[in-house]
Amino acid sequence: MTAAALKDPSLFSERMFIGEEWCAAVSGADLEVVDPSTGASLGSVPDAKGEDAAQAIAAAAAATGSWRSTTAALRAKLLERWHDLILANQDDLACLLTAEQGKPLNEARGEIAYAASFVKWFAEEARRVGGKGIASSDPNRRILISKEPVGVSVAITPWNFPAAMITRKCAPALAAGCCVIIKPSDLTPFTALALAKLAERAGFPSGVLNVITGMPEEIGQVLTASPEVRKLSFTGSTNVGRILMRQCADTIKRLSLELGGNAPLIVFDDANIDVAIESTLISKFRNAGQTCVCANRIFVQDGIFDRFAEKLAARVLPMRVGDGRADGTDIGPLINGPAVQKVMQHLDDALANGASVFAQAENQMDPARFVAPTVLTGANSRMLLSSQETFGPLAPLFRFHHEDEAIELANDTPFGLASYFYTENLGRAFRVAERLEAGMVALNTGAISMEVAPFGGVKASGLGREGGECGIDEFLETKAFHVGGLSF
Ligand code: SIN
Repeated sequence: MTAAALKDPSLFSERMFIGEEWCAAVSGADLEVVDPSTGASLGSVPDAKGEDAAQAIAAAAAATGSWRSTTAALRAKLLERWHDLILANQDDLACLLTAEQGKPLNEARGEIAYAASFVKWFAEEARRVGGKGIASSDPNRRILISKEPVGVSVAITPWNFPAAMITRKCAPALAAGCCVIIKPSDLTPFTALALAKLAERAGFPSGVLNVITGMPEEIGQVLTASPEVRKLSFTGSTNVGRILMRQCADTIKRLSLELGGNAPLIVFDDANIDVAIESTLISKFRNAGQTCVCANRIFVQDGIFDRFAEKLAARVLPMRVGDGRADGTDIGPLINGPAVQKVMQHLDDALANGASVFAQAENQMDPARFVAPTVLTGANSRMLLSSQETFGPLAPLFRFHHEDEAIELANDTPFGLASYFYTENLGRAFRVAERLEAGMVALNTGAISMEVAPFGGVKASGLGREGGECGIDEFLETKAFHVGGLSF
């Protein structure tokens, strides 16, 4: 990657953003970022450590008093400007995103629009934060309930959505009146830095939005240990979520955790098969299967199984595996070697436990970086892909016979993020929706990610909700103001 590939080369930054400084790490150390399609170096960013994290906390804390007392109207205006700048620079942001993350350019453009939608939504929500008066049991007392910003907030964001996970966390924080410190994935920091450039241009005051780059462990320890940081919002694996939760215990921080999933997708005999196929393609193969809401286990009822497998195979076989910048690419690289190895381990394990490859697209790319989309039949619950999130383009089909069986299989996981099902039967629609253990249930659609709807999970999939009208509440505290001695 070079800045020269961008219409606005200044969006490419190899410095992090603390206060109003674009700076190096105190130690001077850098971290190389590579293109997952080729392994070529894209550039480097500061490899921040504890001392840098402490500076970011100090910058955010210093800006907090004035930012929390700005009007909602001003915060909304700045967010609106940031939104407009993100959309005006959609091509450059998508270019950076594809270079460091790998997803096809059209998906990257879609992610930038998705990212911008959160900024717009929370610009609007900023104005709607309100309070209320409640009935007092004492005639000489009035009780007023107000909402206040929680304080300095940290957003630790993943590599699979380098833009949207930042705005889904930061826009509500900023709207609520909180200063934020963003710690993007060390694999995809350039999109985050470009978003910060645009936030700076939008006019957010110094210290209100900070980005600190580098390897996560030490930075995470300092951010979570700090009593000045009052809120942590994290998207990533359940294991890391547990570690962060423990680290936040001493300072009793507010937490939002958007963790792993193991999404079931159930196709009943009475489904509209074409709707089910389209939705499965969206849910399974978006971002090469690297989303926490990707269908991981596809349960298909006996009577429709063979037709569904054939139709899905017909759509998967022509999929183009390639560099995300190449025209017509459907499936880009996986993020790195360990990601490829995990998918191959799931595939090998499934084949050893009775699955067969029903369809596999061609892969003319480097097999150490790219995985061909594959449909497996004969999947069963002994397989690793049944209990673990594959995070890749494997579509394992499990056969089932009865509604109860499907629900039992679907819920047989510690996770509960997204779930999908397909039926034309109204009674079944409500029965199944109410019994699925998940924060998000989708009937006859494969798309559940949008700014207007709450996003989040139950069980080991996390805590709290992002987006929707509750997204801003994650960054607000409720205060009860008792006014006594009124002498009525
Ligand atoms: C994720 O995979 O973490 C988020 C996916 C989405 O927003 O759709």
